[in-house]
Amino acid sequence: MTDAPQKTFTLTNDQTGESTKLPILDGNDGPSVIDVRRLYGQLGHFTYDPGFRATGSCDSALTYIDGEQGILLHRGYAIEDLAARSDYMEVCYLLLHGELPTGDQKTLFESTITHHTMVHDQINNFFRGFRRDAHPMAIMCGVVGALSAFYHDHTDVNSAEDRLISAHRLIAKMPTIAAMAYKYSCGQPFMYPRNDLGYAANFLHMTFGVPAESSEPDPILARAMDKIFILHADHEQNASTSTVRIAGSSGANPYAVIAAGIASLWGPAHGGANEAVLSMLDEIGDKSRINEFVKKAKDPDDSFRLMGFGHRVYKNFDPRAKIMKETADEVLDLMGMSDPRLELARELERIALEDDYFVQRKLYPNVDFYSGIILKAMGFPTEMFTVLFAMARTVGWISQWKEMMENPDGIFRPRQLYTGHKHRPFVDLPKR
Ligand code: CMC
Repeated sequence: MTDAPQKTFTLTNDQTGESTKLPILDGNDGPSVIDVRRLYGQLGHFTYDPGFRATGSCDSALTYIDGEQGILLHRGYAIEDLAARSDYMEVCYLLLHGELPTGDQKTLFESTITHHTMVHDQINNFFRGFRRDAHPMAIMCGVVGALSAFYHDHTDVNSAEDRLISAHRLIAKMPTIAAMAYKYSCGQPFMYPRNDLGYAANFLHMTFGVPAESSEPDPILARAMDKIFILHADHEQNASTSTVRIAGSSGANPYAVIAAGIASLWGPAHGGANEAVLSMLDEIGDKSRINEFVKKAKDPDDSFRLMGFGHRVYKNFDPRAKIMKETADEVLDLMGMSDPRLELARELERIALEDDYFVQRKLYPNVDFYSGIILKAMGFPTEMFTVLFAMARTVGWISQWKEMMENPDGIFRPRQLYTGHKHRPFVDLPKR
């Protein structure tokens, strides 16, 4: 972003004739923005954009999305290249540090993450406080938030070194906590991390391994898992990332800040959609019922939406959905499985993409449309899908938080269009 904009935008109040020139700021790509920071001081008006449909809330050098073209770049690298030629640890390094690691940097980074994977033994006690049937996202909110109690005294959010240590700890411990949430739900003992395994393989080991048997995670499945992590690593200023930035802008503890991000991700309009897609496919059940559900999705009086379809930014294919669809084929082939839900999803996609309603509104499959089918084939229960999303997105959240803390803009404090009562006299209870 350039600091000295030459271009301006003139805004005139038609009633008073008052006008002001607002700077136009150019990014390195994408639409320029009108800088309204001084608008209130100059004209006494706020801008109004409740769902942030036309608001750039920060400047960021991490992730770029071109929603019309279906392009997603992390630090300038295309998601397709990262998914095919890189691995999740490299992507984590890239997001945190801005460049792909050299061989030595990668070895050191992997070793650092590996040596932070264990959680404090007292963390085990938090799990016991939850019902066995608690949703694992509820457990994640609680346990990740609880990490703040373990590191609060020696986490100085104004220290670059402390921020990096927090990032390493979070990236390292999320798989351990996620696997513990799974183990707790099925009544199996928690598995300790294994330092000889890579990030994704270690997660599969902690999730599906049992202490009574020694087993090795399938390297091809571990690679597929790693690819899924890459596809979820970051996604610009979405709801959970904005939540993380808002929570972090007060100077809050980073572990609590990430717990806020997890809470925001949980909803079905965001990360919870992967779980909702599978429930929807199960509910549809058979190809013969697709039209009935498409009709429901189009009905303005019905709140039902095709889950895994549509995106606030992508008005073309979500590039992650394309890779996810290919990965679904690969994983099912590898497992020697055929899931009728994959056939159903493909047919639903075909029908929706030919339907005027979806065409006109530019509604395409998003990252969540095919991910659930892969995760199910790998053996994850549906409730764990959003947990996996949260695990993989942690690097994005903490990198965005780190970027914000390196160049702070003060606390995020939006204003409002007030629609309540004007000041009125208080009425004592007997007179109401
Ligand atoms: N099924 C049917 N109609 C839809 C859908 C859908 N999935 N998505 C949007 N529409 C319609 C919507 O009803 C509206 O129609 P109209 O103009 O007639 O009122 C129009 O398309 C625009 O929708 P919107 O709600 O203004 O769009 P948005 O940008 O606010 O919402 C969204 C984006 C992702 C919340 C929405 O598309 C949706 O609810 N999709 C289903 C949930 C989902 O798959 N979420 C995962 C998103 S990607 C991963 C992530 O972010 O975590």
